Amino acid sequence: MTDVLTADPNNQKLRGGYYTPLSIAQFLARWAIRTADDTVLEPSCGDGMLLEEAVRRLTALGTPPESIGHQAQGVELYDSEARLACTRMQRLGIPDGCIATQDFFSFNESEWGLVSQRFDAVVGNPPFLRYHAFPEDQRTRAFRIMQTAGLRPSKLTNSWVAFLVAAALCLTERGRLAMVIPAELLQVKYAEQTRAFLARHFGAITIITFRRLVFDGIQQEVVLLLAEKQPAVESGIDVVELEDTLDLADYEVRLRARRHLKSIDHAEEKWTQYYLDENEIDLLRAAKSHPRVTRFGELGCVDVGVVTGRNNFFVLPEQQVRAKGLIGHTLPLVGRTAQLPGLVYTDEDWQANREAGVLCHLLNLPPTSFDLLPASLQEYVQAGELADVHQGFKCSHRKPWYAVPTVWSPDAFLFRQIHEYPKLVQNPGQATSTDTIHRVRFHQSHQTPQIVGAFLNSLTFAFAEVMGRSYGGGVLELEPNEAEQIPIPFFEQAHLPFDELDTLERARRVDTLLDINDAELLGNHMGFDASDVRLFRTIWRKLSGRRMGRKAKSSRK
Ligand SMILES: C[S@@+](CC[C@H](N)C(=O)[O-])C[C@H]1O[C@@H](n2cnc3c(N)ncnc32)[C@H](O)[C@@H]1O
Repeated sequence: MTDVLTADPNNQKLRGGYYTPLSIAQFLARWAIRTADDTVLEPSCGDGMLLEEAVRRLTALGTPPESIGHQAQGVELYDSEARLACTRMQRLGIPDGCIATQDFFSFNESEWGLVSQRFDAVVGNPPFLRYHAFPEDQRTRAFRIMQTAGLRPSKLTNSWVAFLVAAALCLTERGRLAMVIPAELLQVKYAEQTRAFLARHFGAITIITFRRLVFDGIQQEVVLLLAEKQPAVESGIDVVELEDTLDLADYEVRLRARRHLKSIDHAEEKWTQYYLDENEIDLLRAAKSHPRVTRFGELGCVDVGVVTGRNNFFVLPEQQVRAKGLIGHTLPLVGRTAQLPGLVYTDEDWQANREAGVLCHLLNLPPTSFDLLPASLQEYVQAGELADVHQGFKCSHRKPWYAVPTVWSPDAFLFRQIHEYPKLVQNPGQATSTDTIHRVRFHQSHQTPQIVGAFLNSLTFAFAEVMGRSYGGGVLELEPNEAEQIPIPFFEQAHLPFDELDTLERARRVDTLLDINDAELLGNHMGFDASDVRLFRTIWRKLSGRRMGRKAKSSRK
């Protein structure tokens, strides 16, 4: 541990995060600590700000200072930070003893295997360290603890997950946990088991998210996780969205009397769905298990686009292809969703992209030796080598470095990054895409236009929001495996006016387009009544509106 203790704790990255703003610290401490006798743990206390709020809360509840030293416990890895925390505690009249300077995962180690029923409250803001930055000795201990709890940590496991699980194991039977957690908790795959663990371990869970980023200086989106082992009011889960931390005080009052939590699904699902109302969640659950719904992956395979290794060498506009003598040695390429205005990528679209001078050519050199290349290609390849393109990670691992592999052209493109709504685009020609756009091959490629048409409906749009993930900038991202899970109402015999849909899409008239498809697919074929069909649209609008409305700016002061 010594080398970690001597490492530079001023490095935020090394420590894995930023300190909690005062308003959040106060809120967490007030919610988690209920009586003057409560014991409280802060597992990664830094300079002790959250712990100070815990102490203030106990004092306000009537705990005498001499007892607080026995009831409050902070743990901090770095000596310099722990000393700041001790000074803070001394200023409050609390003796040094309540700060342990050590790795949280070795704190009380002998008791980890036991039920660890020790603290009535946990408050915290754990470090955010990816696998490789998470020091091995700590990680080994942390993973052992997670395994004790029935989880299977992996190379994707971030330190905050381990802190959360271990801290939860430290609670008494009536314990409450209040933590600042990365918003990833709601949606990332690597937190899947953690969501299921929390659902099993706690009776009631409330997650507070913010429309504005609440930590100055970082773009990381965070949520507040409030988890109760024995629910004060009722069991279930809720995800609540506030504008920013100024709204916390107001919310605290509502929180005390709140009812109607949503019943929690114990499967390892994403929690983004809990932004919805109970009837909306029920409708999605019914749709998911509807016998007439198909998973997109049953119709075809979703793959990433071409990974060139250096797009600014391999991806070119028309003018450069001509100037460098590369005509005949490129493939049509789509690299941006704006290059796909309709539901089919037509010759006219491709011509328009060429004329507009956008990056729409992929250099497609054969895997032959340099000597066999025509002079103009040799010249371009040499220019690449002068610019060290061949030394890049991808290029240096293939032979010859200038021959990009797997440039196959798909039946359809699928947007990977989604602004308003997800889209599939038929690709009748030879075009391929870079990895900003997925490539789809259908098992029955003659069905492509019907599938592309059927993809546009409110049910599929709603599920894309629930199954994908969104980050601070408001963009929704769908990975291939997530896309393959999306439900789609596909019926060979459905009557979808493909040309009209394409025209509507090009005119950006999505509501008209959805009116047509929803009536045919969700109404006629799946048998949902008009109000349910409308509700799918409401769900999609609600979730996409929430995502797009999030502003990447810091909190109001
Ligand atoms: C995100 S900061 C939060 C600090 C404090 N909880 C707050 O909210 O202001 C995370 C803290 O965890 C500490 N830390 C990192 N690894 C730790 C470990 N293995 N055990 C205990 N503390 C650790 C860091 O030094 C840092 O102070």
